[in-house]
Amino acid sequence: MEGTVLITGGSSGIGAETARLLADAGMTVYCASRRGIAPECDGIIPVTLDVNDESACERTVQRILSESHRLDAVVVNAGNGIAGAIEDTSDEEARYQLETCLFGAMKTIRACLPAFRAQGHGRIVTTTSVAAIVPLPYQGLYSAAKAALLSLTESLAIELHGTGIQCGSVLPGDTATGFTAARKLTQAARGEDSPYRASLQKYLKKIEHDELSGMAPHRIARAIVRQLKRRRMRPRVIPRIDYQAIGLLVRLVPTRLKLWIIRLLYC
Ligand SMILES: NC(=O)c1ccc[n+]([C@@H]2O[C@H](COP(=O)([O-])OP(=O)(O)OC[C@H]3O[C@@H](n4cnc5c(N)ncnc54)[C@H](OP(=O)(O)O)[C@@H]3O)[C@@H](O)[C@H]2O)c1
Repeated sequence: MEGTVLITGGSSGIGAETARLLADAGMTVYCASRRGIAPECDGIIPVTLDVNDESACERTVQRILSESHRLDAVVVNAGNGIAGAIEDTSDEEARYQLETCLFGAMKTIRACLPAFRAQGHGRIVTTTSVAAIVPLPYQGLYSAAKAALLSLTESLAIELHGTGIQCGSVLPGDTATGFTAARKLTQAARGEDSPYRASLQKYLKKIEHDELSGMAPHRIARAIVRQLKRRRMRPRVIPRIDYQAIGLLVRLVPTRLKLWIIRLLYC
């Protein structure tokens, strides 16, 4: 593979593994995050970027074009998670969740599109989540943010038809990364008075165990690289057969049954 790619959320987990794989494959990788750190590897250039800063996203793309004279792909991967019942989530906390996972992703994509359009080609892979198609309790805002990003990715694929620009998503299931430690509880969820306290603690114990014993980030990175290599990108890629089965199940069963199964699993 040749060319230049921008990865957001490249300082750890899935983004860092994707950067490594793409650099090994011969690409020049601009690996962006707020900390500005990246795997030390030939072909990887660390970039300090907060995806919630629109002009910083645009400056990053300008820098790439002036140094590399091309931008072939973007992996829209930066993300974070909050946890807490919806009743225990303030508007400000909800906005914080949507800020990076949805609006930050939009800012990244908007910054890249003019360059892709001028070249007549470009590839966009968004990292969404199985949580986009499985509404998680106590991570309702995270599920909503990822569902919105998945929907936006698919709308974009339609809008970009015929331009030479393709986009698609990768939906990881539980993956062992820095995501678990970085998750923030909402303020009301931390209080003694929350009616959800016991149920939330049980949920957190399960989800933390599932994530920390989940897939290696390398598994998701391989799926992202395969998306980038495909002649025709797939709208949705779900890594690993058990999560693919979940994806099929939630499409086939009535919503009431789907919600019942999710409640049995998590509450
Ligand atoms: N781990 C899972 O089980 C799982 C499952 C499904 C989907 N995902 C998704 O996979 C993606 C990658 O997460 P991960 O699991 O690899 O977690 P991670 O190890 O915590 O990585 C998250 C990355 O996002 C960056 N980031 C966060 N906010 C940012 C911002 N405002 N601007 C720029 N970079 C930002 C972080 O770097 P800095 O802190 O340096 O900015 C970090 O590099 C996320 O979108 C996540 O929602 C994860």
